[in-house]
Formats: sequence, C-alpha cells, structure tokens
Amino acid sequence: MSRAGLPLSPTSSLPPLRSLVSLNEEKIFSALDNLQEIYCPVSLSRAVKSQLEHGKAHNILPEQTADSGYVSEDDLCPDEDIIDPECAIDALRADVFERNFAIRWLTTLIARVEELKLDDEDEHELIVDKASFILASFTAPAEEDEEEDTGITRDFSFELTKGSDVQKAVTINVRLNDAPQTTTDHTDVGLQSWGASIVFSDSICTTPDRFSLTKDALGPSPRIIELGAGTGLVSLVLAKGLPHLGITNATLIATDYHSAVLANLEANIQLTEAEVKACPLDWSAPILAAPLDKPANVLVATDVIYAPEHAMWLRNCATLLLAPGGVFWLLMTIRPNGRFEAVVDSVEAAFQGTSPKNPEGRHLAILSMENVEKRRGIGRGDESGYKLFRIGWA
Ligand SMILES: C[S@@+](CC[C@H](N)C(=O)[O-])C[C@H]1O[C@@H](n2cnc3c(N)ncnc32)[C@H](O)[C@@H]1O
Repeated sequence: MSRAGLPLSPTSSLPPLRSLVSLNEEKIFSALDNLQEIYCPVSLSRAVKSQLEHGKAHNILPEQTADSGYVSEDDLCPDEDIIDPECAIDALRADVFERNFAIRWLTTLIARVEELKLDDEDEHELIVDKASFILASFTAPAEEDEEEDTGITRDFSFELTKGSDVQKAVTINVRLNDAPQTTTDHTDVGLQSWGASIVFSDSICTTPDRFSLTKDALGPSPRIIELGAGTGLVSLVLAKGLPHLGITNATLIATDYHSAVLANLEANIQLTEAEVKACPLDWSAPILAAPLDKPANVLVATDVIYAPEHAMWLRNCATLLLAPGGVFWLLMTIRPNGRFEAVVDSVEAAFQGTSPKNPEGRHLAILSMENVEKRRGIGRGDESGYKLFRIGWA
C-alpha cells in the first residue's frame, strides 16, 4: 500500500522471487493483498456509491447526510487533480505490462512455494489459494459473458470447541459460491465472503461460550437472524455448529437486500445442506413479515458498516427485531484510509443518546466493544482490523 492507501504497481512493489528463503510471510501476504486490491474488483467503495445513488433516487437518505464527495459526483473520475482511488486502481488494472508482471510473479510463487521458510505449514496452502484466486481474475470472462459466471466454490473449515475440553473439538465444514470476478453491478459486494465473516465464524467456533452459544443462555428453541448475510458464511457455520453444542432446535434466518446476493445465499444453503432460511430484508425499510415476524434472541452482522447511514439503519432494524434479553453481535471492519474513514466511529454515534425505544421503553446500547486484530492472509489490504460490538437493551 502507498501512503495514500492506494495499491502500489506490481513492478514497484512485488518482492523479487530469486531467493525465496529470504522472504517472510508478512512480505508475501502484503504483496498478495496489494495484488488482490488491484485485480479482484469487487469493491466496497463502488457499492457505496451505487447504494447512495439508489438512496437518493428513492429519497431514503437522511437529510443531514454529509456530501462525502462521491455522493454528488456522476463520474467515477470527476476531477483530474484529485486522486480518486477507484480511478487509480482502474488505471493500474488496465496496464498490460503491470498485469503480465503480476501474472509471472504469481505463477512463479505458486510453482516455488515450498521453498519458502514459513513457521506454519498451513501457510503454504493459504499462499497458493490466495495467489490462485488472484490469477483466476485474469481469466474472468468478458462483460457480455458475465451472466454465465457462477463464481468459485470455496471450502471453509473451523474447529468448534465443545465445552472447556479442546480435545473435544469438531470440524465444521462449509462450502460456498464465492465472488464472481467481474460484475457490472457494484452493489453486489455480498457475493464475496469478507474477512469479518471468516474472523467471526472462527471466533464463535473457538469460544462459543463467550458468545453465549449455550443451551442455557439461548433456551430450547432460539431464533437467530443474520443481517447483511452476503454469502451466508456465519449463518451456515452456526447451523452446522449449534447441534454439536446441544442446541438442536434453533431457527436460523440469513437476510440481505440484494436479489443476486439472496439467490447466491440460497445456493450456498443447498450446497452446505444447512438448516437456514434465506429471506429479504432491507435495513432502510424493514418489513417484518414471516419468518421475521417473531423477535430474535440473537442478531449477527459482519462487515455491514461502509456508508454513513448504515449504523443508524441497523440500529433501527435491530430495535424492531431483537427480543427482550437478546443480544446483537456486530463485527465492524475498520478501513482507516480513504472514504471509509468517515464511518469508523458511526456505530458508537448511532447507539448514543436518542435511539428509538421498544414498547417497554428500552433502547439498544453498546454493552461492550473489543478491538479484534486483522489476521494474516484474511481480508483485503485496506482492512486494518475489526471492532466487535455486543449490543443489547439498556
Ligand atoms: C461487505 S458485504 C458483507 C457480507 C457478509 N456479512 C460478510 O461479512 O461476508 C455487506 C453486505 O450487506 C448487504 N447490505 C448492504 N446494504 C444493505 C441494506 N440496506 N439492507 C440489507 N443488506 C444490505 C450487502 O448486500 C452485502 O451482502
């Protein structure tokens, strides 16, 4: 990454692969993150632009929403003097010399990965996966063929700890359709599993008690709703994991507002053979028809805050959905550079002071917040870490 938070060109940033012994994991993963940023174009900032334009068209933006520059511009590259991150990345992506350099570097890395001296053997595999994922983007079909693109299938495994005995861990496997490589619709960011969903899934499996995922805490037939579920990774992991924790009668509902994302979510539920219902829900205009007509004991949401109004929409939505005594786990991704800087503190702001009240006169508040570190090899280059919020009735 450059100081401006923009990816660097492959020729100026990729470490030479002449002697792999001298390269450490950090350098390799940082180079791969940089390439992923350039060549894997599912882009949150484009999603924000499209979503805000959609909001303007439907008059759903709050009046006081600050014009953050991209709201009011019609062109992705409005002013030659201002470096627009999307334009800079588009220019890098279009550069054939840079692209060929990146392809050569990636193929060499995959061919010689075993020569890398790494602490953890699994990291060889992670490096090959990540490099292959980026390479696959170079062979993505042209725009007219895009509807044929069904994405790639990705397998996730998490070790679920049962009780305090780590020896009793079981492996939770989830298979997903993940991230078609190019798209003309920039709001379909939910076709990809983002780092936060992987980190959250791993955390709930490693320490389920910490998330009150016990029969005692949840009761005999809990309802769990995921907001902005995307590929549905978290719901699928919960569906597979809860029975191992003695919770056999849970209702799991994974929601999203985007039709293509919901279709992919349905496909993922079939692929993993999980007991999850997919259901449309737009935080900006929630409709609480069945199966959303009964309150949830647990709400979960990962990487759903990337525009100024998201935190407030989610707060209002959660106020309608959360049962008395319920908990809302929100894992927010921190992107400290560029346009997402503005939303970094928006959750704290949304849950302060004048939140709406439920019929009992209570409002939702942040009960605790914990900083969660970014994990090596997980998430995109512009993510610096996460904030885990436990939200409940005050
Ligand atoms: C960055 S993706 C994260 C997806 C998934 N939670 C993950 O961590 O991989 C954001 C998700 O929020 C959904 N989303 C954005 N705006 C929404 C809205 N107004 N109502 C419901 N879902 C929305 C998107 O469709 C997308 O699936």
